[in-house]
Amino acid sequence: MGNPQAYTKTAMLLHWVTASLLITLFLLGWYMVDLPKGPLRGQNFALHKSLGASVLILSLWRLGWRLGHSPPLLPLSVTAWQAALARAVHALFYLLLLTQPLTGYLSSEFNGHGTSFFGLPLPLWGTLNLPLSEFFVRLHVIGSLALLGLLATHLAGVLSHAFHPRDRFLRRMLPWN
Ligand code: HEM
Ligand code: HEM
Repeated sequence: MGNPQAYTKTAMLLHWVTASLLITLFLLGWYMVDLPKGPLRGQNFALHKSLGASVLILSLWRLGWRLGHSPPLLPLSVTAWQAALARAVHALFYLLLLTQPLTGYLSSEFNGHGTSFFGLPLPLWGTLNLPLSEFFVRLHVIGSLALLGLLATHLAGVLSHAFHPRDRFLRRMLPWN
């Protein structure tokens, strides 16, 4: 489907917007948890939740797009085990991009704070249950570590092929190539 050498512009846009949001969410997440209680902490948590919910919406769109489109063919320099690893990493990325916002949302649902999306409060249906909220916080932290592991593997894979003279692998995801 389309150019067999590169992703479409939509796929590239979704890839880079999601990647930028994810890096922002990590930096914001680590920064905000150490802030003292007060308005600054509240504002940063609210921004983290809104950007995290945006990742969920974009990932649903992206997954829908992906299910209807085949990815471009991999260059011949990519061996069978590397292709299998890349497929597994991509699938786990998609899974975690959906579950990570959900664990964050559920932790806030059961600690009484709830979630608002850029100022619009979402209905708070969870009862106050701090151990359950802590459980989801733990899953959220584990999810963020798993995402970091995937990102490291993804970058190692992409960069090890990026400078191959024939493939110039990165151009599959770069709109100006
Ligand atoms: C920060 C979070 C990132 C996430 C969650 C992410 C996720 C993904 C996913 C899921 C795919 C597969 C797309 C598909 O076939 O459906 C992909 C492909 C790709 N990504 Fe990333 N990516 C990230 C960052 C990066 C960065 C920083 C680079 C560049 C250094 C990069 C370069 C690429 C390239 C070149 C491809 C195409 C590779 C291929 O076809 O196997 N990504 N990425
Ligand atoms: C893909 C999206 C997301 C990523 C990558 C992400 C990442 C992170 C990270 C790295 C932290 C710091 C964890 C630590 O203490 O080491 C954090 C904390 C937190 N996140 Fe997210 N997050 C995402 C989405 C969300 C969403 C959608 C919500 C809520 C609606 C949320 C709510 C929270 C909360 C409440 C904390 C503080 C947990 C605590 O009390 O320690 N996150 N997140």
